[in-house]
Amino acid sequence: MQRPVQLGRTCGELTVSKDQTDSCSLEVSLGRLRLANPVLVGSGTFGYAREMEHLVDLARLGGIIPKTITAEPRIGNTPWRTIETAAGMLNSIGLDNDGIEAFVQHHLPYLSSLPVPVIVSIAGRTSDEFVEMAARLDGLKGVAGIELNISCPNVSGGVDLGTDPQMCEKVVAGCRAACGVPVIAKLTPNVTDIQVIARAAEAGGADAISAINTCLGMAVDWRRARPLLGNVMGGLSGPAIKPIALRIVYQIAAAVDIPIIGIGGIANVDDVMEFLVTGATAVQIGTANFYNPTATMTILDQLPDALDELGATSVQEVVGSLRP
Ligand SMILES: Cc1cc2nc3c(=O)[nH]c(=O)nc-3n(C[C@H](O)[C@H](O)[C@H](O)COP(=O)(O)O)c2cc1C
Repeated sequence: MQRPVQLGRTCGELTVSKDQTDSCSLEVSLGRLRLANPVLVGSGTFGYAREMEHLVDLARLGGIIPKTITAEPRIGNTPWRTIETAAGMLNSIGLDNDGIEAFVQHHLPYLSSLPVPVIVSIAGRTSDEFVEMAARLDGLKGVAGIELNISCPNVSGGVDLGTDPQMCEKVVAGCRAACGVPVIAKLTPNVTDIQVIARAAEAGGADAISAINTCLGMAVDWRRARPLLGNVMGGLSGPAIKPIALRIVYQIAAAVDIPIIGIGGIANVDDVMEFLVTGATAVQIGTANFYNPTATMTILDQLPDALDELGATSVQEVVGSLRP
């Protein structure tokens, strides 16, 4: 699926990455946002990036999405908040964060110093709160885009905006009007018809769609007859959800014309290629950052050869090339 290349208004200078060679272009566009390569890191799995600077060459990343912020500080859910499961993990962090003002004061200065687009993930309790947060971030140095987390399964009412098409369109349109940077809607897989929600995000003016957030799940200690997570239910992530995420990217690609960022169980270059071919223009690495913090670097090392294997000289050539 070929899409026009447009320069973002406030995404900063495009980093010409050392992964970019004359023979192969890793550059991609997410609507108005241009990235040096399609490998981003997912919200909640990479802290605020500073924690990772000794492990990862941050300048090589296509983009960074820090932990979701909320209008006010949140202490998050009762422990246990993470549980390992077969081929995945369950989490019910509950959007533990210090709030938007602390983010702007303490984390944004560092993030804005990085030569990489930073897409700030926000979550409001209501549509109006989302819009207020988008307006607060508008024009701030270092904010290349905003990802609307309308899909967190771990806060009360957190998924409502992402499960109701009218609310989804309203919140996206409101945020789009409130800020000049690209707006990305992050969708939940926990719906009956993802295409309806994706179309609503597109109708609201989303520049791109991120899919997927975690799948609602549970873990149980049968001897104590207790749920293992303090919040009872949590979000399943990791390789266990990759087939679900691929299916959803495929369905969204058939429903909308805006770019998709594929997320879900991506851990190596083969996973990345699967998502690109299925219809994603870029990907986010999530849970893999926990057990293999340099996964993104290995993927970037290997991506040009994987594209070459298909005879492609750019990422864009393979996007959506699946032949069902
Ligand atoms: C511990 C943990 C915390 C997360 N926190 C957030 C968050 O704050 N905001 C968000 O949009 N997604 C959050 N996610 C979801 C991930 O960004 C990603 O969408 C999901 O985990 C699926 O990708 P993965 O299988 O590669 O991890 C979190 C995931 C995990 C495992």
